[in-house]
Amino acid sequence: MSLLKSASSFVFGDRQHEYRFTADDFERISTLIYQRAGICLPQRKAEMVYNRLSRRLRVLGLHSFSDYLTLLSDDSPEWKPFIGALTTHLTAFFREEYHFPILAGHAGDKAGNSRVRLWSCAASTGEEPYSMAIAMAERFGTLYPPVDILATDVDTGVLETARQGVYPIERVQSLSERMLRRYFLRGGRDKTGFVKVHPELQQMITFEQLNLLDPVWTMTKPFDSIFCRNVMIYFDRPTQKRVLQHCLRYLAPDGLFFAGHSENLNHLADLFDPCGKTVYRPHCARPAYPAETALDAVCYA
Ligand SMILES: C[S@@+](CC[C@H](N)C(=O)[O-])C[C@H]1O[C@@H](n2cnc3c(N)ncnc32)[C@H](O)[C@@H]1O
Repeated sequence: MSLLKSASSFVFGDRQHEYRFTADDFERISTLIYQRAGICLPQRKAEMVYNRLSRRLRVLGLHSFSDYLTLLSDDSPEWKPFIGALTTHLTAFFREEYHFPILAGHAGDKAGNSRVRLWSCAASTGEEPYSMAIAMAERFGTLYPPVDILATDVDTGVLETARQGVYPIERVQSLSERMLRRYFLRGGRDKTGFVKVHPELQQMITFEQLNLLDPVWTMTKPFDSIFCRNVMIYFDRPTQKRVLQHCLRYLAPDGLFFAGHSENLNHLADLFDPCGKTVYRPHCARPAYPAETALDAVCYA
């Protein structure tokens, strides 16, 4: 794909820019991140791309973007920081808070003989899956609710932060004092100014790397709810459709799919029905997906 087909060429090579950065560099970078993570980078993001990746050039002691790009061979370790630099990780505890009572109500209805299964599929630094875990603890009135949460992201760097569950205290400012006392431990000595998520909450969650673009996902059971929030916005329409179709294969027939507030998925209305503010239910008659893999077949077998 060529994002820059009709774009005029540009070069950052002036005094404010340490490195020369050409339209060709940008096009190669945007093609690579599109292929790897499905992320579309319009040309107006060129300055952002320059700023984020020039840090890598500095760390690696490189003199040009073309030198940097030659590092990105198939199995290069540089893919990890490349993807980390070009993904946006903005998140917050109880972001789009109107979703959490819906999640809790649905989980409460589902809990019975089997455990409730939830998935945060673009978990970033963990605030979203921990908010889901808190909502579950509140709903079931215990730190040990019958709930398992899978938290995944393409970027292993943010997952490491998520796994640790340590946040500057400002990140939890919007939570009530009662919630803070119940679900977080305050840091002392060298951790003053930080809180750590309660270990019982952490036990509810499994963190794993997963690229939503991968043709095969290894989960074997469907989820009761999927949080896929504020990630589709970085994908183009064909990618959104592909990811949504794949997600719906992993959603229980009466499950809920949660999208982000600014994600317009109207063009995918044939796949699901809205049932709340950016909350959706899969259509009863599921589209006939090709049976790509045994695991995907197992999911609904
Ligand atoms: C803006 S954050 C959203 C975090 C959280 N869901 C929320 O709404 O607060 C977007 C996340 O999507 C992840 N992401 C981007 N492309 C992805 C892909 N292809 N597969 C999985 N995660 C991806 C990024 O690494 C980033 O952590």
